[in-house]
Amino acid sequence: MVKICCIGAGYVGGPTMAVIAFKCPSVEVAVVDISVPRITAWNSDKLPIYEPGLDEVVKKCRGTNLFFSNEIEKHVAAADIVFVSVNTPTKTSGLGAGKAADLTYWESAARMIADVSKSSKIVVEKSTVPVKTAEAIEKILTHNSKGIEFHVLSNPEFLAEGTAITDLFNPDRVLIGGREENAGGLKAIQTLKDIYAQWVPQERIICTNLWSAELSKLAANAFLAQRISSVNSISALCEATGANVTQVSSAVGKDSRIGSKFLNASVGFGGSCFQKDILNLVYICECNGLPEVANYWKQVIKINDYQKNRFVNRLVSSMFNTISGKKIAILGFSFKKDTGDTRETPAIDVCKGLLNDKAQLVIYDPQVPETQIFKDLSTPKFDWDQLGSTIQITEDAVKQSVKVVHNAYEATKDSHAICILTEWDEFKSLDYQKIYNNMPKPAYMFDGRNVVDVAKLRQIGFIVYSIGKPLDPWLKDMPAIA
Ligand code: NAD
Ligand code: UDX
Repeated sequence: MVKICCIGAGYVGGPTMAVIAFKCPSVEVAVVDISVPRITAWNSDKLPIYEPGLDEVVKKCRGTNLFFSNEIEKHVAAADIVFVSVNTPTKTSGLGAGKAADLTYWESAARMIADVSKSSKIVVEKSTVPVKTAEAIEKILTHNSKGIEFHVLSNPEFLAEGTAITDLFNPDRVLIGGREENAGGLKAIQTLKDIYAQWVPQERIICTNLWSAELSKLAANAFLAQRISSVNSISALCEATGANVTQVSSAVGKDSRIGSKFLNASVGFGGSCFQKDILNLVYICECNGLPEVANYWKQVIKINDYQKNRFVNRLVSSMFNTISGKKIAILGFSFKKDTGDTRETPAIDVCKGLLNDKAQLVIYDPQVPETQIFKDLSTPKFDWDQLGSTIQITEDAVKQSVKVVHNAYEATKDSHAICILTEWDEFKSLDYQKIYNNMPKPAYMFDGRNVVDVAKLRQIGFIVYSIGKPLDPWLKDMPAIA
């Protein structure tokens, strides 16, 4: 029986390993983590992350060939293949702060693997890492190996949150990078390929050299984020000209060379990956003497910040340039639907912008707990984060000006305006007539996700702003926004 150990039981390690265990009954999978609460939750009925379909997969395999444990060293020592799926956040201090990936967790995991191993192992980079990380990892492993053989592979993960299980069941591709130039490397590639081949068609398993695999992951995220910034930049032009961004992106996306996916204009992209990975790419370009390339990708993040600021400015200017003391309902706080994850969610910057203008916020999200919302809004931005909003809101101000409630009707009652910041399905089918009746007039809707039926809401009486859609006559008369 092949034994796999995955270090890091997070959004990637947990679902990825659960699917490997589910699809490969002859493989034993142990997912280990330093966090005791996380592992306890993985072993309970309430998993630590919300992901459609995940509960079923975990329940089917847990205790059979899937185990969650804090006994890291024991499981690493016993494994044939060790996946490392620890977090690789942006460095917050020192050289490269604000751009470079922080590889502290990765390095400590690699040193521990070298320390505890008594048999040869394949070590797989599952985390997203800078190009050439595998070389550094190889050095750490071989210099501490006591004669044991290690083969390092890069196997970046392309799942998206909210659709992780379907993405893992049916991936567009599985990428395996390794030392193609030597027999040991080729054998390691084949071993990992054999695992995925148990459910992924051969032609979708791509094998490359290590550096191509590492760079492909950063490039894929940069391309995806760039599409969103492209359509978001066009959304601003749509509002200025009377074009409709949904019609424009649909017409553009019909070109088979462009394709229709990932062209939804929004209040901005969020999530733990896009910004972090682009910053990392920018840093790598700068380190390689490519400032023009670095600036090109930096612009993707700048447009994203512009889009969030534009949304706040539009709201404030539409409401007579003051929202001081006004109650604003925030529908949705997670960075996208079907996840409770709030990392880099645009809702944080938008809410901070509104709080800075002294609004009273009532927030509802079906998956994000109150404690997380308070934490996110009170956490200061890092000094280096000059690209994004630099607004800092004190914990006291957040406590006085923010309330978290349990449904959309409670949030919107008596509110002067509604902001939709996450595209949860339930926001499409709310009784907007009832909501309108319970709001002071004029009643505003600011849809940052193009969720509502604009014509219908205008008919009800709402003043509606929807990203990239022709402006409400009311909004046209308001002062121009930067
Ligand atoms: P996460 O923060 O949810 O999980 C990482 C886990 O690693 C944490 O539970 C942490 O306690 C654990 N950990 C850290 N150091 C450890 C150590 N030395 N020993 C044991 N456990 C340790 O992060 P994530 O979202 O799962 O992301 C992991 C990696 O995958 C990152 O590099 C990320 O860029 C990449 N990635 C993430 C996604 C995504 O959608 N979240 C998608 C593709 C790739
Ligand atoms: C992303 C990549 O899609 C995935 O391949 C990678 O492994 C991890 O990073 P994730 O961040 O989980 O996945 O979600 P994704 O669906 O990419 O959405 C990211 C952000 O972009 C969300 O805030 C989403 O709302 C936004 N988005 C997405 C848009 O604003 N418009 C779109 O058309 C698509």
